[in-house]
Amino acid sequence: MDIPPLTKKRSGCRLEGRHVLLFGAGTANEVAEGWSLGQVSDKVYGVGKATALVYARHGAVVTCVDVDLNAAAATAELIRGEGGTAYALACDATRSDDVKETIGKSLAHNGRIDVLHNNIGLAKMGGPVECSEDDFDQVISVNLKSMYLTCKWALPVMERQMRGAIINISSFAAVRFTVPWIAYAVSKGGVNALTMSVAAQYAAKGIRCNAIAPGLLSTPMVQFAHKKNHASLQEMMRSRDNAVPMRWQGEGWDVGEAAVFLASDEARFITGQVLAVDGGSTLVMPSKPWEPVDGAEH
Ligand SMILES: NC(=O)c1ccc[n+]([C@@H]2O[C@H](COP(=O)([O-])OP(=O)(O)OC[C@H]3O[C@@H](n4cnc5c(N)ncnc54)[C@H](O)[C@@H]3O)[C@@H](O)[C@H]2O)c1
Repeated sequence: MDIPPLTKKRSGCRLEGRHVLLFGAGTANEVAEGWSLGQVSDKVYGVGKATALVYARHGAVVTCVDVDLNAAAATAELIRGEGGTAYALACDATRSDDVKETIGKSLAHNGRIDVLHNNIGLAKMGGPVECSEDDFDQVISVNLKSMYLTCKWALPVMERQMRGAIINISSFAAVRFTVPWIAYAVSKGGVNALTMSVAAQYAAKGIRCNAIAPGLLSTPMVQFAHKKNHASLQEMMRSRDNAVPMRWQGEGWDVGEAAVFLASDEARFITGQVLAVDGGSTLVMPSKPWEPVDGAEH
């Protein structure tokens, strides 16, 4: 299959001099290179790390924030290695005081926040019966409350600027229910609602708020479970590729390119939208038929 390559070099920099504050800029479950398949591009990074790099390649100054300072610092180092400008900050985005302090630091350093990018997210399996209350609370806190908190403390800054763009990372799991993961689905549905609610309230203040809903991606988090078994990793990747209408999984890079567009002035009239970046997955029925249910009449 001829998959279009993404190039690093740009003729124009859409975000030259803009300041991006990116929460979740590390890579979840990053492991030594060698086992990961890297099916489309040479490097398989998590969504946050790839997105931070794409912002910087489009000229933005990126403040890389992560609960794991080493992970944020590694992303900032990569950006600087490519000639970009980036800083790293540690923050637990589920804690209001931590988020407030981080936004204060970023503002003191950069003077403004042009783009708030909320990438943080984790998944726990199971429907309402299987998912523990602790897991449910944790997923809602990390995936949804963190975005409420970053908006809470960044919006007054953007309001004073009379300008700003917010990008929230959702998932196609908010609208397609192929595996039971109630907490994840609910949290991402909440992200979509939060996005629209903020967009409506702040539209007249020059602040836009949009979400991106990725479909199946090839990322370290997805590959981690199979890291000890290359054959099973390959089999899983093949089946995930085949589940996508385009027949290949996206990568963090694809999410990053969409984010740059939504953050840029080219998207100046777009707000409150959830942009699917999913190779067509939300267009079609599940690729596997549902299991028959005993006694069900059709
Ligand atoms: N990987 C996929 O296939 C896929 C598909 C659809 C949507 N998404 C979404 O994309 C986003 C990124 O997923 P990913 O798997 O690529 O992860 P990622 O590699 O981008 O890593 C997320 C980062 O968030 C950080 N983080 C976690 N909790 C935090 C907290 N409380 N405060 C600050 N930082 C914290 C982690 O340390 C990690 O570095 C998530 O929102 C996820 O739901 C992923």
